[in-house]
Amino acid sequence: ERPTITVDASAVLSKIDNNIYGGFTEHMGRCIYGGIYDPGNPLSDANGFRTDVIDAFKDLNVPVVRYPGGNFVATYHWLDGVGPKENRPSRPELAWIGTESNEFGTDEFLKWCEVVGTEPYFCLNFGTGTLDEALGWVEYCNSDRNSYYANLRRKNGREKPYNVKYWALGNECWGPWQVGQLTKEDYAKQAYQWAKAIKLLDPSVELILCGETGYSTWDSYVIKECIKFDLHGLGGSTTASLVDMHSIHVYTASSDHNKNATAPRSAERAIQIAAGLIDLARIENGVPPSVRRQKICFDEWNVWDPVRAPGEEGAEEKYTLSDALAIGVWLNVFVRQSQHMGMANIAQSVNVISPLMTTKDGLLKQPTWWPLLLFSKYMRGSTVAVNVRSGEYLGDTEPAWIRGAIETPWLDVSAAVDDDGVLSLAVVNIHETRDFETELRGVGAKEVTVYSVNGADVTVVNTAEKEEVGIQESKWNGQGLFTFPKHSLTFLRWKL
Ligand code: AHR
Repeated sequence: ERPTITVDASAVLSKIDNNIYGGFTEHMGRCIYGGIYDPGNPLSDANGFRTDVIDAFKDLNVPVVRYPGGNFVATYHWLDGVGPKENRPSRPELAWIGTESNEFGTDEFLKWCEVVGTEPYFCLNFGTGTLDEALGWVEYCNSDRNSYYANLRRKNGREKPYNVKYWALGNECWGPWQVGQLTKEDYAKQAYQWAKAIKLLDPSVELILCGETGYSTWDSYVIKECIKFDLHGLGGSTTASLVDMHSIHVYTASSDHNKNATAPRSAERAIQIAAGLIDLARIENGVPPSVRRQKICFDEWNVWDPVRAPGEEGAEEKYTLSDALAIGVWLNVFVRQSQHMGMANIAQSVNVISPLMTTKDGLLKQPTWWPLLLFSKYMRGSTVAVNVRSGEYLGDTEPAWIRGAIETPWLDVSAAVDDDGVLSLAVVNIHETRDFETELRGVGAKEVTVYSVNGADVTVVNTAEKEEVGIQESKWNGQGLFTFPKHSLTFLRWKL
């Protein structure tokens, strides 16, 4: 049977939140120091910000960036990182076992966000931090009162509030590696009480609950306990809730290409399950339908094998074409599941498990950069119905439960229509040896712009000397069959 892809541009399914193209910068390895902040380097501006990195973020049009961790945040005290730099204390750093100079902190990050043109997303310290400290941070960033922390911000040179909208209620608090690991019961209690206090201080913020994989007992418990309607905490409002999103973290990886490229499909099921848990909690807890439905914040996702690239050594993964195809599948998942997605943050944005690497004299774009760029540039607007028939990879998967739970077609697809009426169709052909000559229904005889990400084989990497994986652009007249080459990502774009 001939492979077929059917796109129905009139079947608009749901809006794609731009925030699915979010980033993440943690005080880890060379992400902040030597990544976005590199004072003294000729490529840096007067603030010490790397201008080539800023330009790369602008190219990606990154809408939101999570900070300062990650695991780092579990012992982070934000007050150490504000005020005159000479007074800032160096502290032992217990997540990645180093010393944190605190040279780069809240004001530096928020200034950097303004230069980049992106929104900050802060993660609160649920390890050694206190609620008082968290409230102080929200006040410092967002308050225009005549009050202590708002005045401290003014004293530090910033008159108007930064209005940081997104705040995470801790990071991976379930993890045994976490300083101050919590049980689900203790976490739910703490998260709910912190959420109430923070919303009383600043009802305009959005709070993100700390989830696990999306399909764990932890997820189910904390969602049930925290996604409820609190008349007292909300002052009777029916349009908001204490918790606005539920987070999921998943990293995929395998040295076997087929497993590597199909593994992100597990994230699709994770999103569906977590969304179901949210619906169930809302029903069981009697949350009125007028309270906006909580979405998924996939605030750490990527290909990462921590054995191959250990966190303590800076997690500088070397990505292959196989990984780039996996990233294409990851992004297809977010687009297909856009009805549930409030945000997603690739972990991470510079040097640490990142598509973007800095050297002293410039940038190296790994193979995974190119799918990210294509999606972030073009796959915006609303997702539309697309159906694929291409046969399926039927071997073992990573994780194993994918087989039997979801399909893993050779062609992994998503489609969207943007505000200018341009349709984008993304097709990842994960097959290592087979080109797919495909009937494309729903294009018509249109001029189609084609962007292709490919390389000699799935193992190729980019080096400073040679870019083995990049983007090739061409045109197609929209007629006849279209061939999706083996191990490639293809973007087809046409005006409706
Ligand atoms: O992104 C690297 C680390 O992975 C983060 O610090 C942590 O949250 C996760 O385990």
